[in-house]
Amino acid sequence: MTTKPLKAAIIGLGLLGSQYLEAFGKRSDVAIVGVCDVRRAVAESAAAQVHATPYTNADELLKSQRPDLVVVATPDHLHLAPTLAALDAGAPVIIQEKPLATDLAEAEAIYEKVEQRGAKLFVNFANRAMPYDLATYYVLQQGLIGQPVYAESRLDDNISVPTRLWGERSRDFATGSSPAHFLLSHVVDLMHWWFAPAQVTEVFAISQEGVLGFTPDLYDAFLIFDSGLKVRVKAEWIKHIDQIVEYYSCFTGERGGVIYNKRPGFGVQESWRANFSAPPAADALAAHQQRLGEQGIDVRLAHHYRPAAVAYDVSTVRASFEHIGGDQAHGMMLIGPILDAVQQNTLTPDSWQQRGPLPTHRDGLRQVQVVQALIDSARSGRVVTVR
Ligand SMILES: NC(=O)c1ccc[n+]([C@@H]2O[C@H](COP(=O)([O-])OP(=O)(O)OC[C@H]3O[C@@H](n4cnc5c(N)ncnc54)[C@H](O)[C@@H]3O)[C@@H](O)[C@H]2O)c1
Repeated sequence: MTTKPLKAAIIGLGLLGSQYLEAFGKRSDVAIVGVCDVRRAVAESAAAQVHATPYTNADELLKSQRPDLVVVATPDHLHLAPTLAALDAGAPVIIQEKPLATDLAEAEAIYEKVEQRGAKLFVNFANRAMPYDLATYYVLQQGLIGQPVYAESRLDDNISVPTRLWGERSRDFATGSSPAHFLLSHVVDLMHWWFAPAQVTEVFAISQEGVLGFTPDLYDAFLIFDSGLKVRVKAEWIKHIDQIVEYYSCFTGERGGVIYNKRPGFGVQESWRANFSAPPAADALAAHQQRLGEQGIDVRLAHHYRPAAVAYDVSTVRASFEHIGGDQAHGMMLIGPILDAVQQNTLTPDSWQQRGPLPTHRDGLRQVQVVQALIDSARSGRVVTVR
């Protein structure tokens, strides 16, 4: 298949913007024509790296370069203006960093403009492309643990994130965002993807404030799905830990469960395991293991011996898939499939098969609706229905 090089522009050249520079640099079908950051020196240095034109004003970049593809990687609360500007300038494709917005009305405005313009907007919910998360998707969607009934996910950042990660800009970034927008955006999106087609209908949350002072310290919430599934999600921005992030999830289904330590805390190893109490036949399990392997997800299949003569057999696990050790994940893993989707004019390109459609403005809006309900619930102390 012949591919036309895409004329790309990147707006916002901080931590994530520079990763896009690198990721696009590896693709022969993308040419970066313009880069923009309100900090002139940052824009000029990025432009020099990729032989593009630097801008400090997004409108000027869009008017003079007419890009085919615009990346918006500004801070969480500053997505609206560049995204609307790109759509108004006629950009056919936007890749936006998560969350779609930190405000529901802004998310709706982006959604409506994308629809009105007939444009495509992809949200980089990067976790969807990470090996442990893909393995979880596979196991859940194949029904290997039966009907999911409960899940728990904790994604916590070191207190250094809101106070120091972005240098002197940290407080502004964190004030415009929160652990719900910055962290639970990922978790809420994963839950919708994993448990599709189930939807969150009700939310009850609490928050803690006071340690940081300029933004909430943490959110802890229950999400109720229309399938009956109940999920607890929690995100802190005040953790005192050695590493930058801790991330743990587990799921219980009627016939098994998934446990994984994606970014483990003290004394725990990176690990992922799916336990099956009523597994399919050995050859069917081996076929699932092979299909996971074909997707680059290397899991060990174990059949667990059941002693016949023991009155009380503690383990209910009859078979398991397991991976011990890091999953080599990074924030640009979904960008390859998104660029393939743009080139192939589809939401399910060759590089993204049997994983559902890639995330768009619809997924972005749904994520913001749930996060907004969660914040409203924490404020009011009531259960909030998700609109
Ligand atoms: N996908 C992930 O796993 C992941 C991880 C971290 C951050 N992010 C997301 O990426 C986005 C950017 O985060 P970051 O950590 O790179 O932030 P950052 O502060 O390092 O970078 C943002 C850049 O945007 C620039 N900027 C601000 N307003 C602008 C405007 N109007 N026009 C042009 N430039 C402007 C800033 O000067 C800064 O250089 C956020 O939405 C964040 O949540 C995603």
